Amino acid sequence: MIEHRLWLPVCAAADLVAGAVVAIRVLGRDIALWRTAEGHLAAAPDRCPHRGTPLSLGCVQGESLVCAYHGWHFGPTGRCVRIPALPAVRPGTRQALATVDVGERHGMIWVRLGPAHEADLLAQPPAFEGPDGPGISRLLCGPYDVATSAPRVIENFLDLAHFGFVHPGTLGDPAQPQIPDYQVAGGLATQGLQAEGCQAWQPRSNLLAESGAMVRYRYSVPAPFSAVLAKCPEGWDSHQESIALFTLPMEPTRTRVWFLVAMSAAGRSDAQIRAFQDVIFEQDRRILEAQRPACLPLDPALEVSCAADRLSLAYRLYLRTLGIGFGVEPVRG
Ligand code: FES
Ligand SMILES: [Fe+2]
Repeated sequence: MIEHRLWLPVCAAADLVAGAVVAIRVLGRDIALWRTAEGHLAAAPDRCPHRGTPLSLGCVQGESLVCAYHGWHFGPTGRCVRIPALPAVRPGTRQALATVDVGERHGMIWVRLGPAHEADLLAQPPAFEGPDGPGISRLLCGPYDVATSAPRVIENFLDLAHFGFVHPGTLGDPAQPQIPDYQVAGGLATQGLQAEGCQAWQPRSNLLAESGAMVRYRYSVPAPFSAVLAKCPEGWDSHQESIALFTLPMEPTRTRVWFLVAMSAAGRSDAQIRAFQDVIFEQDRRILEAQRPACLPLDPALEVSCAADRLSLAYRLYLRTLGIGFGVEPVRG
């Protein structure tokens, strides 16, 4: 499965303290994720090789994860280092855990279930430059658990034409719904997707806005389940704002979502920025959880599109080109 070769976000790094173990669901599989006393991260299928007990029921002792049933100790590389019932025995590779890759980026923990993708762009967790430095707030919003597929969530993030109808008064105005033409480029694993020249009229494009403005958007899709936008209202020359959407496909139609927001905050608190993002996402959720099919149709014949959907259509083709099968309706025939 191609999805196993992608890095996927699983939790905020700050939420997994040293000595903690948690159960997570990734691409329909149960995974145990833990951090040792010294801070090393480890992840493995959530099943003890001895008698099938979830490893996430166990606990961390020093550098070992200790199974809750018979107390076998596993080191951060997965090696079994102690079988309490047989203290003189040195366990071998048969008792070891098949660990998966785990790493930290953008203040989040990421896992990859299989070998690295050969395309550089996909061989690491997605890049996010975003503004940084004095006057810039950088914060993680979420997680939001949503009952739909990750590709439906990503496509919604790339969709300009819904603003006036789903976010009236903030991101859009139903009286000004026109989407001027824009350009889309890329579409291969080595390129991701980019859209330039996107514009939408927004009554209140963010927490700081006090009046409506035409807002310029730039989008990129660095990986199948992640997307990034940069936006700037016309006339706000010093304003910087970029939002990354990172999703974890837990099941084909169950997705965990985070937004990494980096923006000129002009004195607004993280809590205020988060509250604005919460309102926007709850408006999106109502549509996202009602769309059918919940998996994204990749066959262009299954839904009717228009020119304003150019980026959505390019996203669907990108998923198809990569061979993504999780959370999508396959192309038949
Ligand atoms: S089931 Fe894990 S040690 Fe026995
Ligand atoms: Fe939306």
